[in-house]
Amino acid sequence: MALISEKFNDALNAQIGEELNSAYIYLSMSSWLKENNFNNLGEWFFSQYNEELAHAYKFMDYVVETGGTVKLPGFNAPKNDWQNVEEIVKAAYAHEQHITGKINELVVLAEELKDYGPRELLTWFVSEQIEEESSTSELVDRQAAFRNDMLFDHHTHRVSESSEE
Ligand code: FEO
Repeated sequence: MALISEKFNDALNAQIGEELNSAYIYLSMSSWLKENNFNNLGEWFFSQYNEELAHAYKFMDYVVETGGTVKLPGFNAPKNDWQNVEEIVKAAYAHEQHITGKINELVVLAEELKDYGPRELLTWFVSEQIEEESSTSELVDRQAAFRNDMLFDHHTHRVSESSEE
């Protein structure tokens, strides 16, 4: 018998879609940045792309471990016609705020269902979202402070391995 309820399984499948969609968005950003010679920022967003895939796998592993069923949802093509670096970093921050809202909804749903199995998993994601909002908000602030995007790119590197998951 499955340890996961159908309702929570459905919610996690939707979240897996959110994470894969996030990966796709960051891959689009990474490509645009590299095409326009912002190579450090492009690498930053490529690492973010890989992190989002890891997030999707983490949810998928939980569904499988609890006897649920992974159903991958479809998603639309990401925005590709980025105008500038400022637009990208602001969009990344806004997207992370959106994802935080989705994680919070999962926390609320698990409580409503009195399902305590995913508590550790969701706590990890709550902390991860603090880190992701913080790092993308920092990009917005730094981009505004530098004013020159090539200089901003030159001084952008991912600082810690701890943000790589
Ligand atoms: Fe998986 Fe960037 O949230």
